[in-house]
Amino acid sequence: MPALGDATRGRVLFGGDYNPEQWPEETWADDMRLMKDAGVTSVTVGVFSWARIEPRPGVRDFGWLDRLMDLLHAHGVGVVLATPTASPPPWMGARHPETLPRDEDGRTVWWGSRQQFCASSPTYRAYAAAITEDLAARYADHPALTMWHINNEYCTHCWCDETARHFRRWLTARYGTVDALNEAWGTAFWSQRYDTWDEVIPPRRAQYIRNPAHLLDFRRFTSDALLECFRAERDIVARHTPRTPVTTNFMPLWSGQDAWAWAAEEDVVSVDVYPDPKDPLGGQYNALIADMTRSQAGGGPWMLMEQAAGAVNWRAVNRPKPAGLNRLLSLQAVARGADAVCYFQWRQSRQGAEKFHSAMLPHAGEQGRTFREVRRIGAELAALGPEVAGTRVAADVAVLHDWHAWWGTEQEGRPSREVAYPEVVRAWHRALWEGGHTTAFAHPEHDLSGYRMVVAPQLYLLSDAAVENLVAYTEGGGTLVCGFWTGVADEDDRIRPGGMDERLRALFGIGTLHEWWPLARGETVTCDGFTGSLWSEELQAGDAEVVAAYRDGELAGLPAVLRRGRAWYVSTLPDPDGLRDLLGRAAAGAGARPVLGGLPPGVEAVRRGGLLFVLNHGREPVEVAVRGAYRDVLTGATVAGGALALERYGVAALREAGRDGSGTAPGYVGRGGSGTA
Ligand code: GAL
Repeated sequence: MPALGDATRGRVLFGGDYNPEQWPEETWADDMRLMKDAGVTSVTVGVFSWARIEPRPGVRDFGWLDRLMDLLHAHGVGVVLATPTASPPPWMGARHPETLPRDEDGRTVWWGSRQQFCASSPTYRAYAAAITEDLAARYADHPALTMWHINNEYCTHCWCDETARHFRRWLTARYGTVDALNEAWGTAFWSQRYDTWDEVIPPRRAQYIRNPAHLLDFRRFTSDALLECFRAERDIVARHTPRTPVTTNFMPLWSGQDAWAWAAEEDVVSVDVYPDPKDPLGGQYNALIADMTRSQAGGGPWMLMEQAAGAVNWRAVNRPKPAGLNRLLSLQAVARGADAVCYFQWRQSRQGAEKFHSAMLPHAGEQGRTFREVRRIGAELAALGPEVAGTRVAADVAVLHDWHAWWGTEQEGRPSREVAYPEVVRAWHRALWEGGHTTAFAHPEHDLSGYRMVVAPQLYLLSDAAVENLVAYTEGGGTLVCGFWTGVADEDDRIRPGGMDERLRALFGIGTLHEWWPLARGETVTCDGFTGSLWSEELQAGDAEVVAAYRDGELAGLPAVLRRGRAWYVSTLPDPDGLRDLLGRAAAGAGARPVLGGLPPGVEAVRRGGLLFVLNHGREPVEVAVRGAYRDVLTGATVAGGALALERYGVAALREAGRDGSGTAPGYVGRGGSGTA
């Protein structure tokens, strides 16, 4: 099976989306000059080129793309060639309105932007297959081609009649009979029983709260329907180029795709990440997405397909990245396993919806601060490539995450609309990140035996196989820490008797779960050692140790955190310091150690291959005490017996002096450090 290494060939790829069809061809020569200057090795071409390649149905204009591919090859730039199927040309919607998506109200989603296709439309699929076939046939042997990029950020949802027919086929495959569907969806409630398959429709606008199992299955179906589109195009390109890796870019922690299932179908897992420069914890968010993507890639190298060199254009207030932040986040991705650091996009557009979105080469041009920083990153990645490309990142703590559990929590009639699954996952990852642990992500049914500690921030819905996996992991010597609102429902969103799976209640030593007590936004509850927010639970301990109790409010005196041996249950969301301490204690007991102890706040340490990366996410310079002798492969400087100075947003990539880069990671960088972040 092809892999990212087939495209990188021992380098860390550097580049971005390249949309030269927006520019006169005279500009291309300037692009080549500046790409060389910046150290660009890879560009993604054709993502939104459908109307240019197929200006009217069946017509092909490949001339410009032929010239472009040749030009890039002549300049030593590899091409990640995209199928253009994310943005059908206006002629498709005009001639074939059935290809346009309908929203929950039945309203048409028109052309005029992008991604206006219904994944279930046979007409859309036929056009997409045809253009993919011709593209693959034409460029299969082109020497510039290094990878295929299918579509772009699959995200379109549709509720049309064609989708309804497709949904019924999907449900028939899942349940076999209407009776089984009725049972799984609990349609005895509110007279929702279906008599025939034809009565089943996508969950469109309705009078009041809709059936949550229906909504859940529609999420599953939509992810699968889009995946069918991906597979169809992937199979076409793979037939032409069996040794060229194939990817499609995920959006970060996005609810629309079950990325565990999708990643299993890709040769290369890639993601687009846009931390908000205004967010003081943007570095933690970047780390989370890196950890999740690397884990989807089986712990091996992954591709940062898109990030912004500066500002985006889609937040309420779009701040550029301050000097150094682009470099910091790019090198952080490499430290956490990326073998490709790419951007949206190479040259900033002068027209269209993204003319205020930054690029590697922004409106300010090659003299601008952004381009100068891009050039520096390109040079540093060239130096880092031989040190890290193809290497793995070790993690002995895993965070459990499952899209189906997420979908289950997002239902309309739930105990609290204030609980947002991604926020809870992020809070738990933050606690581990600040505690200095390198984390992986895992699905609750994965083999967890390689991890010393596993945490489940929130898994509302768990299959029997997942429950048994968690129990077996803990009985096998693993440490499990679960957050609130976990193990509540089965795969069909049927509440488990007792409000939590009985095997899990036994595991945590919970006697009775009397009630869920969600907290209002801003409301807190005092517990031993921390403050809780968002949620609390009226629990009675069974044979568990009470680690912390509620100290005020209705639940005063009742257990907040329970522990039975290696299984911990946390029934609220502790404040950041509290959660960090709690997970730190559990990790220490499990033998999971931080990469480096005693780092100043905001300083991150990660080992990859033979290197120890130390990254300062703070806005102030900082010093980290170092014992031993190292060489910083970014600067060539020797770091020996003293302090490692990191400027604001500074990064060091340390190799133990005397090692050739392929050996083990540096042994010890001392505790302590001074300064604030
Ligand atoms: C991504 C998309 C790119 C570009 C970028 C802007 O979602 O794939 O085409 O729109 O966002 O941030």
